[in-house]
Amino acid sequence: MAFPPAFLDELTARNPIEDVVGQYVSLKRSGSNLFGLCPFHGEKTASFSVAPDKGIYYCFGCHKGGSVINFQMEIEGLSYPDAVRALAKRVGMEVPEDEQYQSRYRQQERLWALHKEAARFFHSQLYAPVGAQALQYAYGRGMPKSVLTRFGIGYAPDSWSSLVDALRKKGYTDQELRDSGLVTISKKNGNLFDRFRDRLMFPIIDVRGNVIGFGGRIMNDKDKNAAKYLNSPETLIFNKRKNLFALNLAKKSKLGYLILVEGYMDAIALHQYGFDCAVASLGTALTEDGAALLSKYTDQVVLIYDGDTAGQNATKRAIPILEKAGLQVKVLQMRDAKDPDEFLKKFGADRFKLLLEESSNRVEYQLNAILKKYDLRDDDQKVKYLQESAELICTLSSSVQREVYAGRVAEVAKISMEAMKLEVNRAFKRRIAREKKKQEKIDLSPARNLQPKSRSIHYDNLKSARAEEMVIGQTLRQPALLDQTRELTQEMFSSELLGRVYGQMCRRHREHLEVSVNGLTDFSPEEMSHIAGILHSQQGPINEQALLDCVAAIRQEYQSRRVTTDEDILAHMERMKKSKGYKA
Ligand code: UTP
Ligand code: MN
Repeated sequence: MAFPPAFLDELTARNPIEDVVGQYVSLKRSGSNLFGLCPFHGEKTASFSVAPDKGIYYCFGCHKGGSVINFQMEIEGLSYPDAVRALAKRVGMEVPEDEQYQSRYRQQERLWALHKEAARFFHSQLYAPVGAQALQYAYGRGMPKSVLTRFGIGYAPDSWSSLVDALRKKGYTDQELRDSGLVTISKKNGNLFDRFRDRLMFPIIDVRGNVIGFGGRIMNDKDKNAAKYLNSPETLIFNKRKNLFALNLAKKSKLGYLILVEGYMDAIALHQYGFDCAVASLGTALTEDGAALLSKYTDQVVLIYDGDTAGQNATKRAIPILEKAGLQVKVLQMRDAKDPDEFLKKFGADRFKLLLEESSNRVEYQLNAILKKYDLRDDDQKVKYLQESAELICTLSSSVQREVYAGRVAEVAKISMEAMKLEVNRAFKRRIAREKKKQEKIDLSPARNLQPKSRSIHYDNLKSARAEEMVIGQTLRQPALLDQTRELTQEMFSSELLGRVYGQMCRRHREHLEVSVNGLTDFSPEEMSHIAGILHSQQGPINEQALLDCVAAIRQEYQSRRVTTDEDILAHMERMKKSKGYKA
């Protein structure tokens, strides 16, 4: 039987690839990836990699790769369904082999789709005439259009049934509307009304990208009767203790820690000012579930609650909960502003960064950790201590900070400040050289593997295939981009395999399912390995323009293929005519 997509999504979400692989291979982190010895071929140097953010493993040596399910199949020699069952068992999930489970998943899927539709509706209203005031409010609070788009912010019109009408028109039943929590039910006659009216709407999105609820803010603070924020009630898909606002974005942050704040607006402002690792709890105090969720994505949390007494108390309560989840906690005391949103808008990102650095003790903490590793009475170890400390210090962006910490290390190791400065400079040069080498490797890699490694896969049109790989790689990393590749269809792909991948991705995207390697079905192990290889080679930031260029290139190649065929036929007919002419 085919497993329901929502079940598979949950299965793969609860079986992080690094955990599953980690049971068989000892992995070491290097940047955003993990490396180890390949379990599928004998080797002495680690060429086997796991990319947790992409959900794949890939070996440079034997070119095997794929999703967590592929790994389970390969390592244990299991069929696809048996690998799924093994992973389900691993995390104590029931396998939906019976009708009841299937129908529950279907119900969830409908609610996710309904919420996505609602989010689209609210967002569109923000730019409609009815939303003019809300849009002004949003702009007035310093959110430019790009931010409104990134967070999908919208407007619930001041009407009794505009959302209900819109959703009914899309085919949602009254029962589904009731289950969604987005309506209220009249006690008098059982009619359905919009729950959110005349509010600025913040979609709440889970880590898999599903819209699961909303927070709605009134825009007139003088209205003392209305709650400032109204949130979705608990539903089949929304549990506010188990989700965090903006974690869907923050989980991709490269900053290496997460910032936890109280308010939606605080999280949004932080993202807007470059701190893309901010999340907010959903109108409740932080819970153990929330802390456990955070600990899946980081081991360091910076807590920034409002400066008032309530915020201070919440901070005190949150610290032990976070620490119990194994998180290292730093606290940032809000000063000269009531919350991070206000602070950023008053003083800007640089001042905020100072606050963050000063509060966080990150450097001190790490220097101490290095110190603990070495015995400074031993000369060799002392040298290592200095080198490693210098490596850390040279990554600090402020020269004052470098000076201060270099001074401290020099003092601890009883060497001169000049000697330590030299050490830091050397570390800095080494770092630059390393980064340059890494970049060169990335720059060169497309040239190195023009044709797929597997003999069973061959590209007929390398130029197009290159672009096709790029499109697949980029959209797999950021599926929302599929909205911009609409003019590209499966049959335009020169590679049948890549076309099939793209076709499945588009279908899942249309059906509001998570788009990732985990969602690809019916590919052979060789094909999955190849796809993982493509995804693996995708590095650096997503470049929308490059993506659009690739789409254009594929279309052009496709057009010219078609023209060639037509021309071939014409030429052929021409020749036929001529040869007939000769005969005649
Ligand atoms: P705040 O009152 O601190 O609001 O509530 P804020 O985030 O600074 O919002 P702005 O800047 O005034 O727009 C913090 C959080 O508490 C929850 C919301 O999640 C809010 O973001 N809250 C607050 C509610 O759920 N309901 C309320 O009525 C008020
Ligand atoms: Mn605020």
